[in-house]
Amino acid sequence: MEIYAVKIMNISNEELNDLCSTLDVEKRCKLEKYIKLEDKIRSLIGDLLIRTLINKKFKIRNKNIIIEKNQYGKPFLKGNPKHNFNISHSEDFVVCAISDTPIGIDIEKIKQIEYKEIAKGFFTENEYDYITRGDAQDQLKNFFNIWTLKESFIKCCGTGLSMPLNLFSLEIDNINNIRLIHKLGESNSKYYFEVFDIDSEYKMAVCSLNKNVSSNLVMIDQQSLIKDYYKLVLDGGTF
Ligand SMILES: CC(C)(COP(=O)(O)OP(=O)(O)OC[C@H]1O[C@@H](n2cnc3c(N)ncnc32)[C@H](O)[C@@H]1OP(=O)(O)O)[C@@H](O)C(=O)NCCC(=O)NCCS
Repeated sequence: MEIYAVKIMNISNEELNDLCSTLDVEKRCKLEKYIKLEDKIRSLIGDLLIRTLINKKFKIRNKNIIIEKNQYGKPFLKGNPKHNFNISHSEDFVVCAISDTPIGIDIEKIKQIEYKEIAKGFFTENEYDYITRGDAQDQLKNFFNIWTLKESFIKCCGTGLSMPLNLFSLEIDNINNIRLIHKLGESNSKYYFEVFDIDSEYKMAVCSLNKNVSSNLVMIDQQSLIKDYYKLVLDGGTF
């Protein structure tokens, strides 16, 4: 399993158009629908990241990297059920996890929100108790900790928000062990979690069916990624 992150930098309109011209029609249409330039760049970088990683790691040519979606929108690599990946983006970061078993990743920038109302309405009682420990600053961080863990779980399952968020509970003990309690009695022990300190203003979590969840985060420079991507497109194959 490998975890990667790209810190987002601005991209000129010219470069953006060049990069978009290399994408398939579906992805191009998706990007065109974004109103904010930052959203467009994040989604584009996510696509470039996953394509270059799949090419490098699994030696699949770009033209053979066909990304489809399950009924809830989770992207997967067509014809390669063992090559699992997942992407998340928030503000300055795009992150990606790759594994041979299903995986989910989530990153969120910590921002002031009505966390108590959200936790009360959508999370479990135990999660609410965990969140409301400590001072207001700690509580906000606890909230985003639980949020990213929950999101990483639903992204690992691939169900998105069709799974009610209070159907399962993330329990964090005083030595930061993370355990999933599923109310429908689904095996609680087969999911493993890891949290990452990517930046003091962000929370990031990975959920995996692989017991050995990597705690190693590889940073990739955006310009190097774009260079590698162009090589991949021009070569039409592996490098
Ligand atoms: C779509 C969803 C899976 C993640 O949304 P998100 O946190 O806003 O966005 P992220 O950046 O983490 O993830 C987006 C990426 O997840 C992937 N994704 C989309 N649907 C997915 C699904 N069902 N399962 C796993 N991954 C999915 C896509 O690659 C997408 O990126 P792209 O649109 O650029 O291709 C879904 O859970 C959602 O809508 N969440 C809203 C946030 C929320 O209310 N969370 C509650 C707190 S727990």
